[in-house]
Amino acid sequence: MSNHEQHETAHRPVQRKEMSRRQFLSYTLGGTTAFMMGGAVLPMVRFAVDPLLVKKEGGDFVKVVEESKITAEPQEFKFKIHQVDGWYESDPELVAWISKGEDNKIFALSPVCKHLGCTIFWNTKGHNEYDCPCHDARYSKDGKNLAVANSPLDEYEVEVKDGFVYLGPIVPNTRS
Ligand code: FES
Repeated sequence: MSNHEQHETAHRPVQRKEMSRRQFLSYTLGGTTAFMMGGAVLPMVRFAVDPLLVKKEGGDFVKVVEESKITAEPQEFKFKIHQVDGWYESDPELVAWISKGEDNKIFALSPVCKHLGCTIFWNTKGHNEYDCPCHDARYSKDGKNLAVANSPLDEYEVEVKDGFVYLGPIVPNTRS
């Protein structure tokens, strides 16, 4: 490169890329529109999705009966739980058969027969067993399956607090 060319290059003005008026308007309007759309649409998306993100309730313990009412003989107790599943809230009624075991501890059995899901009852045939009216399944007082069904009755988790029995989630039988 000659001295003359070097001199010209050094003094050539730097060329800036100017934004055209059209580009400026496009960016400004596009940005404003996106901002406004976000402000309008995001709350709707959040409203639609929010219940799905909230943890399902229903695992809490529910006060069912005074501890003093529980005997060695199983008794049927009904109670309601509050369930929230997405947008749907409900208060289904549940049933538990509650009694004291030989260790004097309170336990509660689910009434759902493990054969095909009918409802069992205590001692309808006078054998001190749970009986299922559908296909004659039988269970011991601890819920152990004695005939027809292949598994024992489920249990509720139990807490005894301040003189009351609280029932929680249903779990597999721990007594048989
Ligand atoms: S459902 Fe209980 S015996 Fe079949």
